Amino acid sequence: MPKQTVRDLKLDGLKVLVRVDFNVPQGKDGSISDDRRIKAALPTLTHALNHGASLILVSHLGRPTGDPGTDAPFRLDAVAARLSALLGKPVAKVDDTVGPAAKAACAALRPGEIVVLENVRFNKGEKKGDPKFAAELAGLADAYVNDAFGTCHRDEASMVAVPECFPPERRALGFLVEKELKILETLLGDAKRPMVSVMGGAKVSDKILIIENLLPKVDHLLVGGAMTYTFLKAQGHEIGKSRCEGDKLDEARKLMSLAGLKLVLPVDHLIATAPEATAEVKVVEGPNIPEGWFGMDIGQKTIELYSGMIRTAGTVVWNGPMGKFEDAPFRDGTLGVAKALAASTGVTVVGGGETAEAVETFGFAAKVTHVSTGGGAFLEYLEGKAFNSLRVIPDREG
Ligand code: 3PG
Repeated sequence: MPKQTVRDLKLDGLKVLVRVDFNVPQGKDGSISDDRRIKAALPTLTHALNHGASLILVSHLGRPTGDPGTDAPFRLDAVAARLSALLGKPVAKVDDTVGPAAKAACAALRPGEIVVLENVRFNKGEKKGDPKFAAELAGLADAYVNDAFGTCHRDEASMVAVPECFPPERRALGFLVEKELKILETLLGDAKRPMVSVMGGAKVSDKILIIENLLPKVDHLLVGGAMTYTFLKAQGHEIGKSRCEGDKLDEARKLMSLAGLKLVLPVDHLIATAPEATAEVKVVEGPNIPEGWFGMDIGQKTIELYSGMIRTAGTVVWNGPMGKFEDAPFRDGTLGVAKALAASTGVTVVGGGETAEAVETFGFAAKVTHVSTGGGAFLEYLEGKAFNSLRVIPDREG
């Protein structure tokens, strides 16, 4: 049943608290290195402004510890400035979330105006889901919109207890969350076949639940990244000095027997004398990595094998890089998979922070059907978890 969205709210004259996920990557100098998440919230914000609302924006940034000295880089000033530039209109920023500055700014808001409150995680009540803090925050607004897809797996106050303070007809999802859920539901429901899932990254343990949940739906599960070596070791092969989760070999065996022929492992590997860009590299075929060498990326034959399966798939979902792509010598596997997704005529979905970053960096983001703004949220949804942040938003009537 679809959820109520910002389209269903009577917005005219309302002060709308929009929970956004402006948890954006920052450079060492505090500058925003990727504003994708801010851009992704614009359709909801513009819609609400065009329908006579004023906006109170709430977000976290990073994981502040409560020490004002080290927490300074997590202030939302740069985010508010970037939003103002993207919207082409003034965006006010206040230095507290429920304190006097926030109360005064929200009380003075006129239709069409926007205020960004300070990082919601600067308040201890946020992480704890504290109802008193939630009531104070909700007291600043007339309605609530959740457009923070990347945070939907968290039970923090601004995601669950705050919406619960509003009457059901004043709670809704934003367009970003609506779009992300639609795509995820397609992947978990009636996806076009053949469906291919590409799973990379370092650890099998991070992917156990998602693999278990996706296995009945996918036709092929293509494995890459360092977790390959845990699978190979579990099969009894030599993996040299490659990364391996020694305590997950039984889990890996269980997944392989569950998956049967659906699970495809690399047929060749780019290996290195050290896990560093300056190391000597070569390609080896077959399942064994020579003693003393590190498996660092999938090899060219695997790139061709995986690319062929991706290009002809009806649906592809990709999470996790194929190698240590941040170093140029180990980039080809991840680049090859990104290229194949871009060339596929099927529905192609990329999720998870690192994978999304790779697709962006390679310049293929516009050529895939959807690059999710969720990291943990994307993965946990595919694991089949139910989110409280979505439970508190009513279904659309009729
Ligand atoms: C994310 O980047 O995955 C979200 O913004 C959630 O952040 P968190 O993992 O710090 O809760």
